[in-house]
Parts: sequence; C-alpha cells; structure tokens
Amino acid sequence: MTDTPTKTCVITGASSGLGVELALEVAGTLDFTDLVLTARRRERMEELALRLRERKPGLGIHIVCADLSADDGVSTLFEGIGALLPTVGMWINNAGFGFRGPFIEQEPADLDRMIDVDVRALMQCTRRILPSMIARRDGRILNISSVAAFSPIPWFAVYAASKAFVLSFSEALAHELAGTGVTITAFCPGPMPTEFFDIAGKTRWHGPSVLWISPDRAAREAISATLAGQAVHIPQKLFVLETFLARFSPRSLISAVSGRIFKD
Ligand SMILES: NC(=O)c1ccc[n+]([C@@H]2O[C@H](COP(=O)([O-])OP(=O)(O)OC[C@H]3O[C@@H](n4cnc5c(N)ncnc54)[C@H](OP(=O)(O)O)[C@@H]3O)[C@@H](O)[C@H]2O)c1
Repeated sequence: MTDTPTKTCVITGASSGLGVELALEVAGTLDFTDLVLTARRRERMEELALRLRERKPGLGIHIVCADLSADDGVSTLFEGIGALLPTVGMWINNAGFGFRGPFIEQEPADLDRMIDVDVRALMQCTRRILPSMIARRDGRILNISSVAAFSPIPWFAVYAASKAFVLSFSEALAHELAGTGVTITAFCPGPMPTEFFDIAGKTRWHGPSVLWISPDRAAREAISATLAGQAVHIPQKLFVLETFLARFSPRSLISAVSGRIFKD
C-alpha cells in the first residue's frame, strides 16, 4: 500500500455557486488528498460531497459548518480543520455576499455581517493559515474579489469597498510573500449567475448576458491563475479593458457611470 502524504485544500463558501465549482475543479484536476468544505448550510455541502466522491473516489471530504459573520466563526472553522491544519496547501477564501441599495436604507447589522464575512473573516483566515505555509515554503491562497473592486459603486457602496479591500490586501501580501514559497491571488470576476443575486431579494442584475461568466469557467480560471501564482486575475477580457481604461478616468466620472448602472 502506498503511503501518500496528506495534502489539504480548504474552500469557504462551499455550499453554492462559485464555491461548488471550485471544489469540483480542485477534486477533478489537482492532487489533494483531503478537501475541507465550509459554509453554514450542511445539507448543501453533503450533496456536494457525494458529487466529489464520484469525481475522485478516495478523496477525504470534511464538512465544517461555521458562520463567518459570528465573532467565533473563524475559530470554529480552524477548530474543525484540527489536525489537518499543517497539511493545508491551498486555502480558498470564497465566502461572500453583497446587498444593493441606498446605504442609508440598509440595516446597520446587515452591513456589519457583510464586512465580517467579506473582509474580517478573509483577513483572519489568511493570517492564521500563513505561518504553517511559510514554514513549509509551500502554499497557495486564492481570495475571491470582483471587478467591483476597481471602482466606487454608488448603491453597492459597502460591497464594492469590501472587494477593493480584498484586492488591495492581496496585492500587498503578494509582495510581502515574495520568496517565501507561498503565493496569493486576487481573482476578480464580473457577474456570475449564482445565488449571489437572490440574497435577501435585495440585489438584481439586469445587464446583458454577454457580461456573465459561468461559475465553472470562473473556477477553472481561478485555479489556473492560483497555480501560476498570479497576484491579480480578471477572467473576462471586456473587464480587463474596462479596468485598464478606468485608471485614466476621473473617479467622479467612474462613480457617475457605475451609479447609473447600479441605481436601478
Ligand atoms: N455572483 C457574482 O456575480 C459575483 C461576482 C464577483 C464576485 N463574486 C464573489 O464570489 C464569491 C462567491 O459568490 P457566489 O456568486 O458563488 O454566491 P453564492 O452562490 O451566494 O455563494 C456564497 C457562499 O458564501 C457563503 N456564505 C455567505 N454568508 C456566509 C456566512 N455568514 N458564513 C459562512 N459562509 C457564508 C454561502 O454559504 P451559506 O449560505 O451556506 O453559509 C455560499 O456558499 C463571493 O465572494 C462573491 O462576492 C460574485
């Protein structure tokens, strides 16, 4: 019997959308022996575990239910990972959500939850997992940002700012980590047809379908950019162009244009 060393990948937000596709992509293409799936909805992750076992028999699948907006959410996740922690070779910070609407009409508690999941938990998970990766000189971190990170977005103000944090944080760390054997990638997709747009019925996307990216294609591109150690990756050419042009435009103009798009 061969004794394969344990190698673990952790995926947050693994109960739907991009998180599910990332898990399928990792299981189908990479040589991890163990996969930790985390989110709040256990049943969804159990359904995914069945699909993953079909795709890769023998893969160790560990489900950890944790609410990353709770004060102890990150600790609960790390306790759930337990002895696998020193074997984590890839960490994917994917959990996230946003509420659209006038800032002044949004519930303060909802805004706190958004920052807790999209910013605080992502930053704390990164802080906690890095030491063992650096000690082994081996690790990949994938942070899911968004094209929303590149512009101020009226009526989506807190979400866009939270994704700008993810982008800036990841780019800065990519520099700090140079030469350590550990890489960090900010992945910045445009709109994807997932439950993101149904959250609390507060968000709707009516833009043309040519701007969509399917979650499975996004997952493939995200994993390939992570393996290549890219600091930032935008998967759609149209948005590569848009974010490039935005660098030369006044921020007030960008706010006015994105405000028009997002108001209705
Ligand atoms: N869809 C888009 O258009 C789009 C575009 C750019 C970037 N993104 C980003 O892509 C990532 C994935 O989103 P998605 O489109 O796949 O949306 P989704 O289908 O709604 O998935 C969001 C995931 O985050 C988890 N999550 C939400 N709140 C959580 C909490 N309090 N604690 C733990 N987990 C929590 C959800 O799990 P539970 O509800 O089971 O906890 C779910 O698995 C997010 O970071 C999002 O901001 C999305």
